[in-house]
Amino acid sequence: MDMLLNPLNRRHRLRHDIPVVPGAFPLVGHLPAIVCDLPRLLRRAERELGSHFWLDFGPAGQLMTCVHPDAFALLRHKDVSSALMEEMAPELLAGTLVAQDGGAHRQARDVIKAAFLPKGLTQSGIGDLFAPVIRARMRAWRDRGVVPILRETADLMLKLIFRLMGIPAQDLPGWHRKYQQLLQLIVAPRIDLPGLPLRRGRAARDWIDAQLRQFVRDARAHAARTGLINDMVSAVDRRDDVSDDVLIANIRLLLLGGHETTASTMAWTVIELARHPELWDALVEEAERVGAVPTRHADLAQCPVAEALFRETLRLHPATTLLPRCALQELQIGQRRIPAGTRLCIPLLHFSTSALLHEAPDQFRLARWLQRTEPIRPVDTLQFGTGPHVCIGYHLVWLEMVQFNVALALTMHRAGVRPRLLSDVEKGRRYYPTAHPSMTIRIGFS
Ligand code: HEM
Repeated sequence: MDMLLNPLNRRHRLRHDIPVVPGAFPLVGHLPAIVCDLPRLLRRAERELGSHFWLDFGPAGQLMTCVHPDAFALLRHKDVSSALMEEMAPELLAGTLVAQDGGAHRQARDVIKAAFLPKGLTQSGIGDLFAPVIRARMRAWRDRGVVPILRETADLMLKLIFRLMGIPAQDLPGWHRKYQQLLQLIVAPRIDLPGLPLRRGRAARDWIDAQLRQFVRDARAHAARTGLINDMVSAVDRRDDVSDDVLIANIRLLLLGGHETTASTMAWTVIELARHPELWDALVEEAERVGAVPTRHADLAQCPVAEALFRETLRLHPATTLLPRCALQELQIGQRRIPAGTRLCIPLLHFSTSALLHEAPDQFRLARWLQRTEPIRPVDTLQFGTGPHVCIGYHLVWLEMVQFNVALALTMHRAGVRPRLLSDVEKGRRYYPTAHPSMTIRIGFS
């Protein structure tokens, strides 16, 4: 891996007085190291260059990356814009709420946010909708004995998010493949030739959008149906300032946000349970005491171990590692003044695993959650961002992760088996555009 970090052992240059991390490749910049070896890249840059440095995101250009603790607060700063998201991946994010600022963003978010709060989730009975799907999948894993864990959790998460949206779940592996091709648009060189990632990503986007357009047409034709797509279509049809293209782009974003990140978190949870038998025992004890998969937010307090497992897994393996932003005005970050127009990268991964926030940050410790007495603060959920764009799915993820953890423990323990790791975890692990373990990692239940 060392050759990805600085292949020719170059010295750094300065740009606006801030060092550029050496070792960028032509065309793809630091992307190979960002994708495959981000923690070491960030640690090495901080050690050798300090808290502010430029990383080269290949086709998306250079972003001033800042590991100073002030940088996380930029996500709440009024003079910081999310429009850079769209610039970096126009085919994927144009028109979506995650790339908007101010009033336009608030309006788009208002259309869906209530459905994702605990009250909205309870009212629409999401927990009852999800529990049988999760239990059935756990039984299938138990019967199969060995599963490729990320492939399975991605399939399960797509099934759940399709249920939430109220759309038929057909050909889920096909959808997952298309979403992976779509994500490649964030890092794809801008070379538009058959077989290359840009062309494949665009074709995947067109395929997904054609399906979504059909779902929207169905929602309009059967207005009495339930599900989030119906609610979004009704909300959009009551206004005249939102086009169908924007509606489709936001549904595409929800499906992406709703499955890739949570699938990775679920897969990491099973991997950690397989690596730490004492965690498994604690989870089983709690699940047997509770006796059933919880279905409402109000019941989650009965499952502190399952909840701590979700928080600690995400802390060590945040699914979203980097957030791009742009400075609209001159900003002070740490000891430096950053000119207006600077493109910024906020490294969530760095803060999530920082010794400034956590004792022994590299260790998996449920105790840091189980023994805390103060309430959860924004910095404890930084893996979901903060400020106006804070993840809309946080309460949903919390519910489904606890449901998943309890269902896994109950099903496997009652069959007399526990998870075992059958592959090398470090091989093939990725950190960007989303972070996840390798697709090939297998878990046995024996
Ligand atoms: C472990 C799971 C998840 C993680 C780690 C995660 C992470 C994040 C982060 C870091 C952001 C902030 C982006 C920014 O500030 O630019 C975000 C935004 C968002 N997430 Fe999630 N997410 C997860 C699950 C979900 C789920 C389940 C959904 C929906 C079903 C979802 C939908 C969204 C949406 C729509 C936004 C954009 C919100 C806005 O721009 O106002 N996410 N997520």
